[in-house]
Amino acid sequence: MTTTACERRTEGKAGCPSDSWKPETGDGVREAGLAALYAVLFSLPILGLGGWLVHRDYAHAQSIRAAFREQLQAHDRLVAAAPRETLAVDRAVHGRTLFEASCAACHKADGTGVDGLGKNLTMSWFVASRDDAELAAFISRGRPPADPLNTTRVPMPPKGGHDELTDTDLSDIVTFVRGLQDPRRMPALPAPVAVAAAAPTEAQKAEALAAAGGDAELAGFIAHGTTIFASTCSACHGKDAKGLPNLGKDLVHSTFCKSLDDDALLAFVKRGRDPSDPANTTKVGMPPKGGNPALSDDDLLDVIAYVRSLQKQVSEAK
Ligand code: HEC
Ligand code: HEC
Repeated sequence: MTTTACERRTEGKAGCPSDSWKPETGDGVREAGLAALYAVLFSLPILGLGGWLVHRDYAHAQSIRAAFREQLQAHDRLVAAAPRETLAVDRAVHGRTLFEASCAACHKADGTGVDGLGKNLTMSWFVASRDDAELAAFISRGRPPADPLNTTRVPMPPKGGHDELTDTDLSDIVTFVRGLQDPRRMPALPAPVAVAAAAPTEAQKAEALAAAGGDAELAGFIAHGTTIFASTCSACHGKDAKGLPNLGKDLVHSTFCKSLDDDALLAFVKRGRDPSDPANTTKVGMPPKGGNPALSDDDLLDVIAYVRSLQKQVSEAK
């Protein structure tokens, strides 16, 4: 048996710490029990609150999901219900003209959508679930790829890339879209009349003349091409033709464009480049004639003259 230093000093075991641990008895057990009880009593309300919060979030999420499912049925409900009032002819006609010029490149003239570009609006639950003011506000805002409702990763540009559209224009476009969605409401519309391209502004003419190095005939072509580019191509390729993210490519710096002569480039623009084409790099389609079938070869050659003038400016600036 070994004796510890303490035991030797005190000549006995009294008051010396034991070298083997013994369980505490009596008061010790009661204190531990009380501590556990308090711990439980304190944590109960916290756990309860936590549980209630989790439940509330869950119930909230459930009701959001239910409301969303409800919206997804909006188009089915629309076509199942009795039609609402017939739309005003003048507004539907104006809306159609604007829709063809500003929306059809991506959504097709009948609103059924171009593959890989704009969605089908005729069957859209989104369109059916928004009232007129909400829909006009949506068109004005657009939907970037980062928006949670965006399913295509292709942007819907604000106003379809047509800044010039006014509030009245947007509300007439909404009228026309209502008719596309529910043809029972669409009044008989007169045959569409071809809209002449806007005449170039004085500023555009002056820029064209400078770009043409004073050649008046070439300047006329470039100025005309400028207006067509602004109304048909800029929605996807940007106002400066330098491209838009997830839409049309940069044409100013395009080696593809530079590698083709005007006739080959004309043939390309008339054909477009489907997402299934092996040469397509963006998985977004370039529609034939930029989605504007009304454009003639001369119109497109003028657009090409305009794009060439932008390319020339860039290479001269280097
Ligand atoms: C450059 C192509 C482009 C143009 C031009 C364009 N859109 Fe779109 N639009 C899109 C794309 C792409 C989407 C779908 C984005 C997504 O949610 O994935 C879309 C979505 C929409 C939606 C929502 C549909 C839904 O079911 O979620 C509406 C409404 C709409 N566009 C209306 C218009 C109108 C009206 C115009 C003309 C003023 C227009 N768009 C012009 C590309 C375009
Ligand atoms: C609805 C959108 C849209 C419109 C409108 C549009 N484009 Fe495009 N364009 C594209 C997309 C997308 C591409 C790229 C396709 C790919 O991935 O190769 C493209 C590619 C091109 C290219 C080839 C560029 C390269 O470097 O490969 C040319 C040239 C071109 N577009 C010219 C035009 C012209 C001219 C117009 C107007 C008449 C026009 N586009 C209108 C979407 C559009």
